[in-house]
Order: sequence, then C-alpha cells, then structure tokens
Amino acid sequence: MSQYHIKSLEEYFQVYRKSIRDPETFWEEIAEENFIWRKRWNKVLDWDFSKPKVTWFQGAQLNITENCIDRHLPTRGNKTALIFEPNNPEEKTQHITYKQLHQRVCQFANVLKEKGIKKGDRVCIYLPMIPELAISVLACARIGAIHSVVFAGFSATALRTRINDCECNMVITSDGSFRGNKTIDLKVIVDEALKDAPCVETVLVAQRTHSEIEMKEGRDFWLEPLIEAAYKDCAIEVMDAEDPLFILYTSGSTGMPKGMMHTTAGYMVYIAYTFKNVFQYREEDVYWCTADIGWITGHSYILYGPLANGATTVMFEGVPNYPDWGRFWQIVEKHKVNQFYTAPTAIRALAKENLSFVEKYDLSSLKVLGTVGEPINEEAWHWYDDIIGKGNTPIVDTWWQTETGGIMISPIPFVTPTIPTFATLPFPGIQPCLMDETGEEIKGNPANGRLCVKFPWPSMARTIWGNHQRYKDTYFSTFENKYFTGDGALRDNTGYYRITGRVDDVIIVSGHNLGTAPIEDAINEHPAVAESAIVGFPHDVKGNALYGYVILKETGETRNHGNLRKEINQLITEKIGPIAKLDKIQFTSGLPKTRSGKIMRRILRKIAHKETSNLGDTSTLLNPEVVQEIIENAL
Ligand code: PRX
Repeated sequence: MSQYHIKSLEEYFQVYRKSIRDPETFWEEIAEENFIWRKRWNKVLDWDFSKPKVTWFQGAQLNITENCIDRHLPTRGNKTALIFEPNNPEEKTQHITYKQLHQRVCQFANVLKEKGIKKGDRVCIYLPMIPELAISVLACARIGAIHSVVFAGFSATALRTRINDCECNMVITSDGSFRGNKTIDLKVIVDEALKDAPCVETVLVAQRTHSEIEMKEGRDFWLEPLIEAAYKDCAIEVMDAEDPLFILYTSGSTGMPKGMMHTTAGYMVYIAYTFKNVFQYREEDVYWCTADIGWITGHSYILYGPLANGATTVMFEGVPNYPDWGRFWQIVEKHKVNQFYTAPTAIRALAKENLSFVEKYDLSSLKVLGTVGEPINEEAWHWYDDIIGKGNTPIVDTWWQTETGGIMISPIPFVTPTIPTFATLPFPGIQPCLMDETGEEIKGNPANGRLCVKFPWPSMARTIWGNHQRYKDTYFSTFENKYFTGDGALRDNTGYYRITGRVDDVIIVSGHNLGTAPIEDAINEHPAVAESAIVGFPHDVKGNALYGYVILKETGETRNHGNLRKEINQLITEKIGPIAKLDKIQFTSGLPKTRSGKIMRRILRKIAHKETSNLGDTSTLLNPEVVQEIIENAL
C-alpha cells in the first residue's frame, strides 16, 4: 500500500526513505492504485543518464484524459472541474462540470480529427486563458496529438519560431484576448507568424473579443460552428507510456528556445501525486493557480494535476490589477478558494499597493498558499504570510522547472516546518545534490553549490524536440551522470534547500525565463547597433530587470539616444514579446572581453548591480580600459 497522501513529518521521512531505497516499488504502488491503465507496464524504470535515456512504465498503455476526466464521471460527474473567471468581473463566471468537460473535450477532439489531426501530429495552441485553452489541450491529449502551447503574450516572430521548430499542422487561436482594459488581436499576430510557416494547414479560431479579423479561405475556420456540429463522444486514443504528450518551449542561454518534450505515463503519475501532497488537496476544495496555461505551471498545476485528482480548478483570464488591485482577493472570496498558488513577482506587486485592497475581502477560506517561478525574498514571504495567510496558513515555496515537469523541492503543508525563502525538502523520489566547481558532489552540510539531480523521476522531460544532442549537452554534460538544473542552491544544517538563482545566462524577469542570446540577437538587428550584452539587475517587483550594454556602429551616432532606446525595445517586443524589454540601456564604446573574445558578463553584472568596488582581476581582459568607461556612465 503506498502512502499517497502524506500527513506527518515522520511519515514524510519514512516515505522519502522508501522512495530512495526502492524507487521502482515506490512509484509502481502509486501508479497501480490511482489510475486507469489499458495495459500494465512490464518495467517500471529504465535509465542511463550518459545517453541520456529514461523510460518509465515501459509497456503500459493509457490515455491521460481518461484518467483526468472519464475516470471521475461515475462519482464526480456533476462536480465542477473548471471555474472560468473572466477578465471582466461583470461577465458571468462559468462552472464546467466533469460531465460537461467530457462532452466539450470530445467535441473538440472530433473537430481535430475531422480536420485531419491524428496521433503524433503537433498542434500549436495560442489562446488566452479561456475555457477553449483547457479544452483544446485535453482534446489533443485525447486523440494523441502533441500539444505545443505558446503563451499568448509572445510576438509573431516568437510564435513562428516555435511553430516551425516542431512543424505544427494546426494552430488554435482566438480572434483576440482581453487583458485588463486592453484588447489584443491575437489572430492578427497568428496571421503574421504564418506568413512563413508552411507546415500549418489549418487555423481554428475561437470567438472571444469579436474583433474584426481576416479569415483565410480554406485555412481558417471559426471554431464554434464546428464544435456545435461535432459528435459528443470521442473514444480515447490508447497511448504508450512513453508517447509524447506535449512540447513546451523554454528559453535557453543560447540560441533557439528549447522544445522540452514530456511523455505520458510518468508525467501523469508524478503530477497527480505532487498536486495531492503539495496542496493537501481534499475533495471539497477549490484550488486556484494564477499562472497561465502557456507555462509549465499551468500545464501541470492548473490542468493535469488538479484534474487527475478530480479537483475543482479555477482558470482566471485577467490580470491582478483590473479593475483594481483587489481582483485576486475578490476572486478568492467569491469562489472560497482553499489553495492559492502564485508567483513572487505578483506578491511583490500586490504588496506595494494599499492594504485596503486586501482588507475588503474575506480570505478565511484559504488553507494553503503557494509560490513558484523564482526565489521569493523575505519581505514578500512575510507579507504573504501575515497579510494573506493571517499568520496561520502554510506557504509552500515550490522549486521546479519546465524540464522537471512537476514540483521537485517543496514543503508539504501542515507537515514540513517552513523557513522563509527556503524551498525546504525534496519530494519523495527526488534525489537532489550540490556540486562544487571541480565537479565533485558536496556531501556535508551546510553546502553551497550547483543544484543537480542524480536519479530519474517520472515527469522529467525526455528530450529537446528534434535535438537530443542539445538536451544532453545542456543538462547531462556539465556533471557526469547528473541532471544539471542551471540553478545554484544552499543546503543548511538540517538539509533544507534554498534556491539562490540561475548560474547560467538565463535571467528570470517577473517569473519568466529569458535567455540573453535571443534578446541580444534582436538588439543586434537594429541597423545602428554593432554589438550588445544583456545582464540582470535587482528590481523590487520583477525580481530581476534587464540591463543592456549596447555598442553603436558609429560612435558619433547623431540620433537621439532616447529614440534609439525606444527603437531597440520596439525590436525586442517584435522579436520576442514585451516581457523581454530592457529597463536600462547604456551605450558604450566597447564590452569587456577575454582574450578569446568572450564577453565577461560577470563584470557587466556587477556594474549593473552597482557593486563596482570588487570587480576582480580585469588585467587579463583584452580591453581593460573599457571597464572604467562603463562604470563612469553606468545608469
Ligand atoms: O531558477 C529556477 C526558477 O525558475 C526556473 C525554472 O523556470 P521555468 O522553467 O520557467 O519554470 C518555472 C515554473 C516551474 C528554475 O530553474 N524557480 C522556479 N521555482 C523557484 C525558482 N527559484 C527559486 N525558488 C523557486 N521556488
């Protein structure tokens, strides 16, 4: 008998020890007791990090939507699965029961089939946070199509890159989206992206904003009439355990975004198990994660995790400050939310506003508060604890990544004593370790090093779509036989982990991972720019903001620097999206470089952090004189 629901610290340690001693039995018991399998596995785990190759539940067959929807119909058919809370509080909330969700997913799946989509095809979903987003994701999974959701804040260029990389046959979008008091014409962005994406044959368009848009004959179809005409039942496609479920892009420190590929059985088992425990979810609870389904947090902990547990999950279309900064709390009161999961950047933004926005609402339903996406600073942690949790609601600071699929290090509420800014202890089955600069594991405590994982877990990404070598190079080559996370971490005397941040060239801005290289590439496309380098610097709401050092082609560039800054940010918005805009742009005659021509970001980072007293040895640089110039003109 597995201990699916951990209820005490003692039990946690017991379960954890078992999960390490005998991982296969541990995961097998969890898989056996909680899901519908069309065929049982013949091997729980097979792995080799040197290739790297990992398979879980090999030989098993299943469909994740049968587990997330059909399985609940006999007992929870009339229970609300999804609560859709629109951007505009005046608009009616929708409660979608498991039965209704089943029907809508089946109809959507039949539309996909009718348009020629079959198992293994890639479908790009570029939608706002409306029910069609959840439904289309599940419809793909039902027929075995691989969904690739692209966050609807990305630009046409970013969308095109992602569509072409995994050669999607179809794009699902809407006429537009509502965000606060803005309307964004998403279909126009899709049209722009598709100017150079020959793989796409069909575009399905949901109606949301009623904006005037163009429909291309033979390619674009309004969704609603197709759904209405579709048959209300659709048999599942029986999938192999390791069949791909989805691709989700995440930024790399260099070049192209990485299409992280997740597979079916292991992902389902791990996400369901972590959801249940990290949020101590009970049958009657209402759970709300404020993320967007365009990110991994939304995939795993708005959709698959909650639905695999038969939970009620809230989907919010809007933003925290519309119509005012009380919106989150109004929603918590309205739906009597029990578990609330958000990002530190949102907490910091909310904490800056007047307390009356919180005090107006009854937050007594809250039982668990969660955070994810970046390190949470102490001040924000205490505000969350005191003001939202009233000092008696446990906070789970959950550390994980797009690549890990699910939560890896986190307290279990009411079980693990918390310390502000510590993600605390690894989840059962997770074997983290810290590595030093020489590649040795640091065994004792306390320790400070690079965070790795030395044993596979069921929901890890299996590859980067179309580029297994890059997967190996990025995650399995820095330290032998270990998955390298790209993060640094501390471990205290009691074994608690505290994540200190990225140690590579990824910068987390407002919880979004941004690689420096694609932003620099965008800036360098400006005709006046010769070269550029991006670093992060601390920002009190975003966590980090971006600081760009830019060399102009002609040092005597006569144009106004203010205009150039605007043009550069405009280019970044076009190529990547507004989230990647620079807060500071410093024009400089050079960038500090090593003799082999590599930009010394360490120095640029220190200058951006205003820590210029200890820049280290700069004498070995190719151009040490430029450092003084940069310091003098720093913004
Ligand atoms: O640096 C870590 C940070 O976010 C990175 C992963 O980003 P992404 O793939 O977009 O996934 C975010 C949502 C899971 C990590 O490498 N990060 C995530 N959670 C935390 C965190 N840093 C500190 N504390 C956390 N709780």
